[in-house]
Amino acid sequence: MTLQIRKLSYALGAEITGVDLGKPLDDATFGEIQRAFLEHHVLVFRGPPFTRAQYVAFGRRFGELDTNETYAADKKAPEFPQITLVVSKPKPNGEAATGRFNGQDWHTDHSHLPDPCSATLLHNIELPGLGGDTQFCNMYRAYETLSDGMKKLLEGLHAVHMESVVLDRSTPERYAEARRLNPSTAHPIVRVHPETGRKALYVSDQIKTLVGMTAEESKPLLRFLVEHAVRPQNVYRHIWQKNDLVMWDNRCLLHIALGDYDRTQVRHMEKMTVNGNRCGYTYDGPLE
Ligand code: SIN
Repeated sequence: MTLQIRKLSYALGAEITGVDLGKPLDDATFGEIQRAFLEHHVLVFRGPPFTRAQYVAFGRRFGELDTNETYAADKKAPEFPQITLVVSKPKPNGEAATGRFNGQDWHTDHSHLPDPCSATLLHNIELPGLGGDTQFCNMYRAYETLSDGMKKLLEGLHAVHMESVVLDRSTPERYAEARRLNPSTAHPIVRVHPETGRKALYVSDQIKTLVGMTAEESKPLLRFLVEHAVRPQNVYRHIWQKNDLVMWDNRCLLHIALGDYDRTQVRHMEKMTVNGNRCGYTYDGPLE
């Protein structure tokens, strides 16, 4: 069987069939997958099941995998530190899980670091009966559909990325400690993809402020840019099937987990990230 590629939406995404990720891939087949990845930004593999060891071997073809040193041992797959467990399950008494869940705002993985991961791979193990979808947004299209005036305004601007956390501001010491534990990074608001050379908008819901501006000044522009980006015509909604492996390019996409399911049910994903190149700098300046 030969590899087949089928586009999943106008904006982005392609389904790959005819490839068995449980077997070593020859260079020609891997080259086709790499080209498809750069062209479609999200790849959905619907092939025969594979083991964790085979999953890691496939991920390694794309570069060095993060071993998630800062993660607690119970958040990683035993013997495979490259695989983190993204699991939502009901409370022990069977009631629906509550509170935040992984990936619930528009973001791009690890953008709070100066060298965010280039790609993410997410493998489904268990799905709720209905929903649990993930959406992806094409940030090349978001950039390319801005006016020339806006593109000019954004030239040279940097945005401060930080994970979605509430910082303890009760005392200056606690605030300093919260900042230390939650690093922030300034990235260019327009990012040049290191492999395609194309420009993509690099904004998300996880931005605190623009460098050199107050949060109040920054907010309306950032809100406009995210809303402009995530219009339906730039978005693909992935409806998971059991055993899907989805991989995406963080350098030109945002994604969001919709949480559109009954949280008395289990949703279990296994995630890996491919280390990326340095494109930002550690930011210790004001966030207000
Ligand atoms: C993520 O945001 O990395 C996870 C997305 C998902 O679980 O659908």
